[in-house]
Amino acid sequence: MSEKVTALRDELILKLNEATDAASVDALRVEYLGKNGSITGLLKGMKDLSIEEKKDFGQKVNVLKEEAGKLIADKIEEIKKLEVEAEINSMPEFDISTPANLSRGSYHPITLVQRQCEKVFKSMGFNVEDYSEVVTDYECFEALNIPKHHPARDMQDTYYLENGQLLKSHTSAAQNAIYKKYKDALINEGKPIKAIFPGRCFRNEATDACHENTFFQMEGVMVDKNISISNLIFFMKTMLSEVFQKDIKVRLRPGFFPFVEPGFELDISCLICGGDGCPSCKHSGWLELCPCGMIHPEVLKAGGIDPEEYTGFAFGLGLTRLAMMKYGVKDIRDLNSGSLKALGQFTDDE
Ligand code: DAH
Repeated sequence: MSEKVTALRDELILKLNEATDAASVDALRVEYLGKNGSITGLLKGMKDLSIEEKKDFGQKVNVLKEEAGKLIADKIEEIKKLEVEAEINSMPEFDISTPANLSRGSYHPITLVQRQCEKVFKSMGFNVEDYSEVVTDYECFEALNIPKHHPARDMQDTYYLENGQLLKSHTSAAQNAIYKKYKDALINEGKPIKAIFPGRCFRNEATDACHENTFFQMEGVMVDKNISISNLIFFMKTMLSEVFQKDIKVRLRPGFFPFVEPGFELDISCLICGGDGCPSCKHSGWLELCPCGMIHPEVLKAGGIDPEEYTGFAFGLGLTRLAMMKYGVKDIRDLNSGSLKALGQFTDDE
């Protein structure tokens, strides 16, 4: 009987060595350790053994069970590590140590993507708005249907001033002011509200390669009679195809944000593999890019617009994320480093 244990152990090790992705390792876990797995099956075959044999064999099987669990967990860990390495290697090359051409000035990569987005939206009739970095609690949260003590505030902890004002945690904080600014033209002259507002945002966040306490977003809103999700998809697809200079496919998944109903996460077809699946998109063919949705009636009301008569869409594009994706910047901290060596490498490709 104990040869069976050794044989199964050898067989598992062989198969694990051959496995190259997490799904096949998981299939091995089921094959060996699942309810009907072959290791579990060994225990079932013990009924014909003597008490002594049972004790000895049971012990061996349990040791194998434990070892197999560990081997499988280690293999998954190893595959994940390889996937991350492959993802990093598959990104476009950006070399922080390349000498910059310092004889002339250059734009910051975020400025470059911001201008590209502004250009496309302007051509589609959107106004570009500026808004302050210091805002009130009302603008940042209450007017966006996020009352005090709402759990959505947890993800948006920011920096507070002694007078109760705060550094805006998202560009959505400008929505209320934009509605109030344009509502009369909408109601009296029938002019749709079409505005984008790029801006610096802040969050009380520990920094690492993917997180920063200071980053850029670009919010966009459109309000008129009969605005629907198709309008949202059209504008996003057009803008992203221009920015990336290729036809970008988009898809919407449900997402929750208190200021939109329904809310979505907008994904774009993977820029590296075009949708076939690669480590960058975790083999899904899609990259998560931009939350968006249909503006919540309470948010329109707070802006002085009647939600019975008007509807609209809003989106919050991460400009920092977009710049990282477009230029292959792997560490978000490089963007705020102020290092001319790193940041002087980007030029407007127009
Ligand atoms: N303000 C949100 C954030 O920073 C992003 C967002 C989500 C903006 C949905 C929107 C939207 O306009 O519709 O987390």
